[in-house]
This record gives sequence, structure tokens and C-alpha cells, in this order.
Amino acid sequence: MTALEAARPALHTPRLKLRFPRPSDAPEIAWYANDIDVARMTTGIPHPYGLEQARSFLERVEAMNPDEEALFAIEAPGEGVIGLIGFHNNDEDACEIGYWLGRPYWNRGLMTEAVCGAVAWAARTWGRRYIVSGHFADNDASGRVLIKAHFLYTGEVRWRFSLARGEAAPTRMMVWLA
Ligand SMILES: CC(C)(COP(=O)(O)OP(=O)(O)OC[C@H]1O[C@@H](n2cnc3c(N)ncnc32)[C@H](O)[C@@H]1OP(=O)(O)O)[C@@H](O)C(=O)NCCC(=O)NCCS
Repeated sequence: MTALEAARPALHTPRLKLRFPRPSDAPEIAWYANDIDVARMTTGIPHPYGLEQARSFLERVEAMNPDEEALFAIEAPGEGVIGLIGFHNNDEDACEIGYWLGRPYWNRGLMTEAVCGAVAWAARTWGRRYIVSGHFADNDASGRVLIKAHFLYTGEVRWRFSLARGEAAPTRMMVWLA
């Protein structure tokens, strides 16, 4: 395996391919992320969200340190890129997972499948012993995804700023142990 392949892994789940994002993914990312009901459930996606924002996001991804961060474009066969999932070191230097999926693909179990595949990779290949996540308290669907992927609530609620909301919102923290 080359150093670049190791830094940019690709994973397969029963219905999805998770692979390193490419600059050519910008139109699909902009299309699906420019949805207030996607953006408002994330901390980092502003609304509206256009092609320029997707392009500069993907430029930053190119410069990512693969020891500290990992990002995957979620591809469905015949559909192209339908969302993103990734890990970063949060303010407390804990490995945190984040994700979003385009609205046409919700409620088919796809993100549960992607999260299960990604955390298994993070533990087995990337050497992470635990992974944290947080979902806004009004995002029960994400809570369900994390529960189905065997995350547990820690009981901690943090206030996190959402760019799309323009304000902070209570965030329920969860953890997954390898
Ligand atoms: C949250 C999100 C990732 C879920 O993806 P998904 O592929 O639809 O998730 P799954 O199909 O695997 O599971 C969704 C679960 O939420 C449940 N659900 C859906 N909408 C819900 C709602 N409004 N209230 C409560 N539960 C809901 C579904 O019934 C399902 O649970 P179940 O299997 O127990 O029935 C997707 O909706 C999304 O990207 N939303 C916007 C961005 C976001 O929230 N990102 C996460 C930030 S923490």
C-alpha cells in the first residue's frame, strides 16, 4: 500500500463506498448541503451553501493531516456522492465523528451503515480507542443513528454554535468504545 493510499483509505459497506473526497465532488456536495435542514443540524455548514464554499472546503481537505483527521465522501452506486462523514480532533483533542446525508437518502439506514463502517475502520486501521460525537438536542434522527451504531450517551450537554442557525444550541454528547 502506498503512503497516499494509506492516508486516503476507501471502505465498503453493504450499500455504500466511503472514499477520500475529490475536487470534482464539489457540485454534489453543494447541492445536498444547501438545505437548511441539513445545515442547521451541523455546526460548520453555513446556509446558504454554494459551489464556491464546497470548492474551498475541498481545498482545505487536500491539506488535511491524515494522522489527525479523516474524511470520506459517501457514494451510493449509480447515485454519486450523497453525503460526507469524517473524524477530527475536537477542542479536547478527542476523536469526534461528524456526518451529513442528502435529504433524498434519509431514513433508509444509510447513515447508520456509514457510521458503523467508519468507526470500525477508525478502530481497526486508524488505531482509535474511543470516538465521541454530539448531536443537537432537537436532532433525534442523529441520536438514533448513533444509538444504532452503539454509541452511548455520556449525560453531558454542551452548547455548540451552529453557523446555519446563527446561535448555539444544546448538544447531547455520546461516546463509542472500541
Ligand atoms: C441525521 C441523518 C444523518 C440520518 O441519516 P439516515 O441515513 O436517515 O439515518 P438512518 O436511516 O440510518 O436512521 C435514522 C433514524 O432516525 C429516525 N428518525 C428520522 N427522523 C426522525 C425524527 N424526526 N425524529 C425521531 N427519529 C427520526 C428513523 O426512524 C431512524 O431510526 P429507526 O431506525 O430507529 O427507525 C440525516 O438525516 C442527516 O444528514 N441530517 C442532517 C444533518 C445531520 O443531522 N447530521 C448529523 C449531525 S450530529
